[in-house]
Amino acid sequence: MKNILVIGATGQIGSELTMELRSRYGDSHVVAGYIRGAEPKGVLKDSGPAAIADVTDGDAIAEVVKKYDIDTIYNLAALLSVVAESMPRLAWKIGVGGLWNVLEVAREHHCAAFTPSSIGSFGLSTPHVMTPQDTIQRPGTIYGVSKVTTELLSDYYFNKYGVDTRSVRFPGIISYVTPPGGGTTDYAVDIYYYAVRGEKFVCPLQPGTLMDMIYMPDALHAAIMLMEADASKLLHRNAFNLASMSFAPETIYEEIKKHIPQFEMEYQIDPLKQHIADSWPDCMDDSCARLEWGWQPKYDLAAMTTDMLEKLKLKLNK
Ligand code: SER
Repeated sequence: MKNILVIGATGQIGSELTMELRSRYGDSHVVAGYIRGAEPKGVLKDSGPAAIADVTDGDAIAEVVKKYDIDTIYNLAALLSVVAESMPRLAWKIGVGGLWNVLEVAREHHCAAFTPSSIGSFGLSTPHVMTPQDTIQRPGTIYGVSKVTTELLSDYYFNKYGVDTRSVRFPGIISYVTPPGGGTTDYAVDIYYYAVRGEKFVCPLQPGTLMDMIYMPDALHAAIMLMEADASKLLHRNAFNLASMSFAPETIYEEIKKHIPQFEMEYQIDPLKQHIADSWPDCMDDSCARLEWGWQPKYDLAAMTTDMLEKLKLKLNK
């Protein structure tokens, strides 16, 4: 990788991935791609180049790629699962139409492309425990339908045109920098903010709802590691199951209580979120990622909780 474009650079993953890539490859080599209304601010703005890169406008992306001599694109534009259910057409336009534009630019300008898939690419008929790498994918959400399409279209561009597409199926991502917006796994981020502010948390999912989760530093490391992996070792490309920890609401609550014993939580189930969460794996088998490119997470629930609480206390002045 010489010159990198991050599409969606001001979003939950993009804001941290752009900074991590800049620290590894040099500030001037990583362009923060954004859409109008979501301009980069602060250190993201000041530390390197930025350009409008709306996935729905392929010509504009091609211009940025030419201007900065881009060879690698991280395409992070997407609507998360819950918000996508209220705007399915827009979710498709961004997730699939946008991906098509990115892959066409990648084909014409010989770029590698990373477009994340998700635990959301699985559905009710998927085996839920140690979900295999290759298994049934019949998701019931528009988010999932677009993520399965992401995987297939990315494979298609690799097989037909030789575009170097690679991807992982991200678990719910937990971070303290930029909040996620409108996902099913968001509760596992929100709960830390409530705990640090000393407020009671109302959990939208019922006890026992297991889902895979990952701490942001591991998620960033995985994306970069996969893009740097030896291509000859990759039997799967789009997309690798990625696991690191799996927990239910009562488990993360108990973990936080070890640090903040007075923290309180009650349950008020959100039927849509519960329905979506119930259709996703309890825990994925990520042995292909471990074997093919050496994936190994650093954080478990305890280590993540210690770090999240420490960082959020600083951020929220608590
Ligand atoms: N975090 C996503 C969501 O909850 C799943 O990948 O929608």
